[in-house]
Amino acid sequence: MSVSLSTTIKLPNGIEYEQPLGLFINGEFVPGKEGKTFEVFNPATGQVSASVHEATETDIDIAVEAAHEAFYNGPWSKLTAAERGIKLAKLAELFEENLQILASIEAFDNGKAIQLAKGDVQACIGCLRYYAGWADKIHGKVIETGPSSFNYTKQEPIGVCGQIIPWNFPLLMWAWKIGPAIATGNVVVLKSAEQTPLGALYAAKLTKEAGFPPGVINVVSGFGRVAGNAISMHPKIHKIAFTGSTLVGRQILKASAESNLKKVTLELGGKSPNIVFNDADIDKAVEWINFGIYYNGGQTCCAGSRVYVQEGIYDKVIEAFKKRANKNLVGNPFDPEVFQGAQVSQLQFDRIMSYVDIGKKEGATVEAGGARHGDEGWFIQPTIFSGCTEDMRIMQEEIFGPVVAVAKFKDIDDVVFKGNNSVYGLAAGIHTKNLNTAIEVSNRLRAGTVWVNSYNSLHWALPFGGYQQSGIGRELGKEALKNYTQVKTVSINLD
Ligand code: NAI
Ligand code: MG
Repeated sequence: MSVSLSTTIKLPNGIEYEQPLGLFINGEFVPGKEGKTFEVFNPATGQVSASVHEATETDIDIAVEAAHEAFYNGPWSKLTAAERGIKLAKLAELFEENLQILASIEAFDNGKAIQLAKGDVQACIGCLRYYAGWADKIHGKVIETGPSSFNYTKQEPIGVCGQIIPWNFPLLMWAWKIGPAIATGNVVVLKSAEQTPLGALYAAKLTKEAGFPPGVINVVSGFGRVAGNAISMHPKIHKIAFTGSTLVGRQILKASAESNLKKVTLELGGKSPNIVFNDADIDKAVEWINFGIYYNGGQTCCAGSRVYVQEGIYDKVIEAFKKRANKNLVGNPFDPEVFQGAQVSQLQFDRIMSYVDIGKKEGATVEAGGARHGDEGWFIQPTIFSGCTEDMRIMQEEIFGPVVAVAKFKDIDDVVFKGNNSVYGLAAGIHTKNLNTAIEVSNRLRAGTVWVNSYNSLHWALPFGGYQQSGIGRELGKEALKNYTQVKTVSINLD
């Protein structure tokens, strides 16, 4: 089947735009060498929305060659750090000018509510601008070892970086990956998730407008086991950044070990505890536990999917949470009032519904939801299970949907034990008015981020990443620059 390199899409909110469909390699949209394409779906209806070109191993080779050439010989290699920053800032500006379109593509492709999609694009802009600012502030040190030598270090870029992103925040993950990699002078081959390639391609078009030379940013659509595997095995890619499931994270590490020991950073799953103490402001805490789990339809790596409530207020919190969850507006992602759109795919929908069945069979009480929402598309009611115990699968496994498991706890020791009773360690929430409780518990929890009287409050300046099986390395903030630089020590003999 021959598919053109772009198509006009009319979105449900009336916006009409030209959607690129090709692979963005060496500054151009091109068809895949094997002529393969695949369909993407609108999660709100389950209907096909577009067919995009698929990258196979040959296309990854071509993209890596283009990136390699750009890094070593192209104009990119001669730009000053300040010039790199200016281009990133220009890209941020283009995201701003295209906010409406980008957010609409995101809602259409992923099924998320347009109000959240706009927030995602705003966070992309913040992130790209933040890293634009870092570009010319990366430098090494002079290190004294004695009078007979002069030593200094340089922070050098790694070269060709492979970046594999998931479907839950397609544009935001694009920006989290591209920002620090480009600020530090690298070149990238980024693969979007097969469920959500549209925004990544539109953003690729913006990189051209921003003036990035060909080959610096390559963006391909394709499947994990084909294009993703080719990236993680590639001998000329020396760094890989992955966000997605813990299962695939292991495969990426293995591929690195079996190929060229490329440096690996992983941002993986979680089963994060969100803890409410007796002294918490109940209304506010309920607002945060609601936001903690139902934001982005629960398809959030740091979702507060285990809620622990202290026994003194347990019944009150359940009552209030039930009321609050039932008020979340679920439905048409393009309705500006809607908070929770559709789940991304039939597969994810089925997976989440199977966990709803598991929870019921395990004997947890359904306090809210527990069924699909509507009869078309992949919508699920905000679901609360109460009376959960540590041995239940719904307390241990990542569901990645609008389903939360609630349990009771006695005191700090009890909740620290339970909170840490997980193979993961991405995030945690603590709701209390007592500063000592907040600090003690945040110190004792094994989690990369702890929110106090808040939840899901990410910011591009704050490092984000996991303890234990939630990942390796940190994204965002100054920390992320480490992922994309290597230290060169130069020692000059003065004798
Ligand atoms: P996944 O981990 O399979 O997909 C994420 C990305 O990895 C996609 O771009 C995919 O094409 C790529 N990929 C898949 N297999 C690969 C391989 N062998 N080599 C290289 N790249 C590969 O996640 P999936 O299957 O879409 O979702 C399954 C579960 O994973 C979810 O239910 C959720 O629990 C978790 N997940 C966590 C995310 C997070 O933000 N930490 C994001 C997406 C999924
Ligand atoms: Mg998978």
